[in-house]
Amino acid sequence: MKTHTLLMPLDMHLHLRDGVMLENVAPLSTFTFSGALVMPNLVPPVETLADVRAYKGRILAAAPNDFFEPYMTLFYKNYDKAFLESVADDILAIKLYPAGITTNSEGGVSSFDIEEMRPTLQAMSDLGIPLCVHGETDGFVMDREAEFMNIYELLATSFPELKIVMEHITTKEAVAMLDKFENLYATITVHHLLITLDDVVGGMMQPHLFCKPIAKRPEDLDALLSVALEAHPKVMFGSDSAPHPQHKKESCGCAAGVFTAPIALQLLCEIFDQFGKLSNLQAFVSDNAQNIYGICPEFKEVILEQRAFVVPDNYNGVVPMYAGKAIGWALQDVE
Ligand code: NCD
Ligand code: ZN
Repeated sequence: MKTHTLLMPLDMHLHLRDGVMLENVAPLSTFTFSGALVMPNLVPPVETLADVRAYKGRILAAAPNDFFEPYMTLFYKNYDKAFLESVADDILAIKLYPAGITTNSEGGVSSFDIEEMRPTLQAMSDLGIPLCVHGETDGFVMDREAEFMNIYELLATSFPELKIVMEHITTKEAVAMLDKFENLYATITVHHLLITLDDVVGGMMQPHLFCKPIAKRPEDLDALLSVALEAHPKVMFGSDSAPHPQHKKESCGCAAGVFTAPIALQLLCEIFDQFGKLSNLQAFVSDNAQNIYGICPEFKEVILEQRAFVVPDNYNGVVPMYAGKAIGWALQDVE
């Protein structure tokens, strides 16, 4: 049987939620991943040092038996330097959301006035705190990410020492930015390496494939695959696994988010194997993130094997991507 071993997999964009949902989904990530960058879009968002420490404690308590590092983030506000100094050791990055652009982002940034943001961004740059960005405008849904490239350019050139991560990129325009600006990096999800808008709404509408940013065109998928499969050194895996209760997805007014945490590594093996690029997967799921963020995760070895695996219909009321479908790779062992 064909197998593939991954060391210290990292998920550099993960929604773990809180309360009962956290207890449900956290073990599904902590089992196979060494660590994850945990998104701060709770209600209310993670905004203070006390919030960060308490949330980290709840995450660790939700999966007490696994070696797992929750890399914490703060929800971007125009914080002052003294505050940033006080939290720098407790966070790995700060996540910026344009106001209202996605789930629980109402308190985000409503205008990208660089002068208003300068003290915070300059302090982050000085302190070496990366800025993670949900890069979408409020324009036409298919154009939102491409329209945001001007803002990435402004941020990248105004703060050349600031590491800026374009989160969950979905377009060829975002891919092209990687080689234009030294301080721009990106995460890519597994679902955006598999689907286009056609899979979401081309036939019967598929709520469990609906997310922000929406999946785009075939040429965008090709561009994403080109950098992921080669494990471009500025690109990292970030699942953006975003669990919502089944009734919030299968409803009038479907919440945005694709739940992939428990099947992400299996799907990545399948994709990289299909393209004959399995040997690049280690860099995509761990080594690049270690280099970009300067982190040294706990040892974990995950062995996957090539055999049919039927994705469960749901995980305690959360429906995963490809529920009930067979995928080509499965977990064999985790140490
Ligand atoms: C995420 C969520 O549900 O928190 N949803 C999504 O569609 N990706 C938020 C986000 O990352 O945009
Ligand atoms: Zn997200």
